[in-house]
Amino acid sequence: MAQTDIDALTEAEAAAELEHLARVIGEANAAYHSRDEPEISDAEYDALKRRNAAIEARFPDLKREDSPSDQVGATVADGFSKVPHAVRMLSLSNAFDDEDIREFDTSVRKYLGLGVDAPLAYTAEPKIDGLSLSLRYEDGRLVQAATRGDGEVGENVTANAYTIAGIPAILSGAPAVLEVRGEVYMSHADFAALNTRQSEAGGKTFANPRNAAAGSLRQLDPAITAARPLRFFAYAWGELSAPLADTQQAAIGRLAALGFQTNPLTALCEGPVAMLAHYAQIEAQRATLGYDIDGVVYKVDDLALQQRLGFRSTTPRWAIAHKFPAELAWTRLEAIDIQVGRTGALSPVARLQPVTVGGVVVSNATLHNEDYIAGCDANGIPIRDGKDIRVGDWVQVYRAGDVIPKVADVDLSRRPDDSEAYVFPTTCPECGSTALREEGDAVRRCTGGMICPAQAVEKLKHFVSRKAFDIDGLGAKQVEMFYDDPDLPIREPADIFTLQSRDAANLNRLKNRHGWGEQSAGNLFQAIDDKRRIGFGRLLFALGIRHVGEAAANLIARTYVDWPQFEAAIGGAEGFDGPDWDGLIGIDGVGEVMARSLVSAFAQEAERASIDRLVAHLEVQPAERPRTEDSPVAGKTVVFTGTLEKMTRAEAKARAEALGAKVSGSVSARTDLVVAGPGAGSKAKKAADLGIETLDEDGWLDLIGAL
Ligand code: IVH
Repeated sequence: MAQTDIDALTEAEAAAELEHLARVIGEANAAYHSRDEPEISDAEYDALKRRNAAIEARFPDLKREDSPSDQVGATVADGFSKVPHAVRMLSLSNAFDDEDIREFDTSVRKYLGLGVDAPLAYTAEPKIDGLSLSLRYEDGRLVQAATRGDGEVGENVTANAYTIAGIPAILSGAPAVLEVRGEVYMSHADFAALNTRQSEAGGKTFANPRNAAAGSLRQLDPAITAARPLRFFAYAWGELSAPLADTQQAAIGRLAALGFQTNPLTALCEGPVAMLAHYAQIEAQRATLGYDIDGVVYKVDDLALQQRLGFRSTTPRWAIAHKFPAELAWTRLEAIDIQVGRTGALSPVARLQPVTVGGVVVSNATLHNEDYIAGCDANGIPIRDGKDIRVGDWVQVYRAGDVIPKVADVDLSRRPDDSEAYVFPTTCPECGSTALREEGDAVRRCTGGMICPAQAVEKLKHFVSRKAFDIDGLGAKQVEMFYDDPDLPIREPADIFTLQSRDAANLNRLKNRHGWGEQSAGNLFQAIDDKRRIGFGRLLFALGIRHVGEAAANLIARTYVDWPQFEAAIGGAEGFDGPDWDGLIGIDGVGEVMARSLVSAFAQEAERASIDRLVAHLEVQPAERPRTEDSPVAGKTVVFTGTLEKMTRAEAKARAEALGAKVSGSVSARTDLVVAGPGAGSKAKKAADLGIETLDEDGWLDLIGAL
């Protein structure tokens, strides 16, 4: 069939072509999938599918029941299905200046135990401002495409990915399992044309190419994605059945050879001087690239070193994103509002006359804290030359990437004559309780605890959030609704677990309410019941204790293993001294500030009572130890001291923890083993005094089977 420009097709022609395409693609599928005898080339197949989807996008009413667009990947009627990533999709830590890059190099060398002069190469490439996508190929066929989601579980956008020209459906010569990762983006020209088409058709226009790319990929109807001009740069990988190469650069070369677009501005740099020179070169070309980039990414080139460096909780140690300076604009500050967060922090928010900053309309920005408004830092040292910020001022707003916009500067020459210095509230605007600022804390906090509705609601939102109790059907919106409910209030976490019995006592009225029905109420009660069994780490994180994040909660849970043991230890640490206190702060990764916050939370009567009421409804599962079936050091507390010669301290620690050991910084009666290298001093002596087993580095490596 002759290829007419899609814009010129009449409805009848479009219907005829869709029928034709359904047949031809159907035959090609049968030949390929059922008979394993493809009759057309991959490129022809891809082109047919794209044309089919594009015609459907222009004539949605003509979309056929047997549309080929619906025959690939998961059907996505009620939203996207979720797909767990075989290998987590992580983010990158950020650097903002040259010094950060030199420090990055130093920390990589230190971790690896490399001297300042040892050769160490990095790749440097543009950081594409789009959205990341993971493409899974099995036996050379694209079987799944997933967005990053929360890094562990993404959205299944397979059908959509099939419609993107730069994503091959079939690869030849690829490992049996290959997950290609990269960025979906839209060029400036395509973005402008798309917005023109959208506004002519009375449709939604996009604020910037990144939003347009994300909005186009995350479409429930793949035909819409097909009609959007999306592109893809490959820059990383996930699961692999066989390594791609020995270096980052060669691995990316292989992805290019397999048919992926890779970024031509990638360079190999021998250290920070070359990295920064390449950064300057990319920055100089930024405006003429034709697509948005927001920085440069550096990666250790040697993949064996990448593996040794490994990951922190959400970012690799072997890579860093060097961001371009933020974008700026001036506008008027109309008001300062105070928001009260989960830990009672009073956060000032600037309400601004809306202004476009780097393509995004900004009307709110953070003002950090009261010192920042007053023009000084927490030590009283002037910032912005000591200029304070007042309502009515002209202020400079900046944003960098997804970071919340900030107010950076004030134009005193435009300050209204009658302006007055801002007085930061000393009582909570939500509950009227005193708002106190403790010594050393930059933030003023409401002392109302759970009686402060803002704190209580934020704590409850955190409690039900995905990484905490993750209760289906009980999200932020429902928490707000139930908090103020006269019949079925949820004022503290324990109330969630009495919701069903309270509703029963209240004549099962929930199901009759607006927005609820028998099924949704039943589903909610079931979802709540499902979470009565909860992991120790999750529970601890869900409590929302200041400074105790997810990673720390899990670390603490792995250390104490079960809840009663933990409770006893926390009780024993009251007063911040004694063996239980030493044990707590001895956990590598738990600092004194976190430990104090934890112990104080449990020592506070009202908070403790609320936790006890909650735990009474739960079956708390002991923490899972790392996979340590044959580990000789599982559960043991190990202290490293002195110089290690075959690996760095950080590596030794990471390995020991992977084997289920607890690594502590200090020797105490609870220490099981001390590994002492040359130069070990007081710790080795203390170990000898306490009669604790002490090994040298080789002895340790022998013990863990690494010699
Ligand atoms: S490497 C383990 N390289 O930036 C991390 N990421 O801010 C692998 N991004 O989530 C990522 N350009 O979506 C990498 N050349 C590039 C990139 C890049 C853009 C994105 C990616 C990542 C985010 C982190």
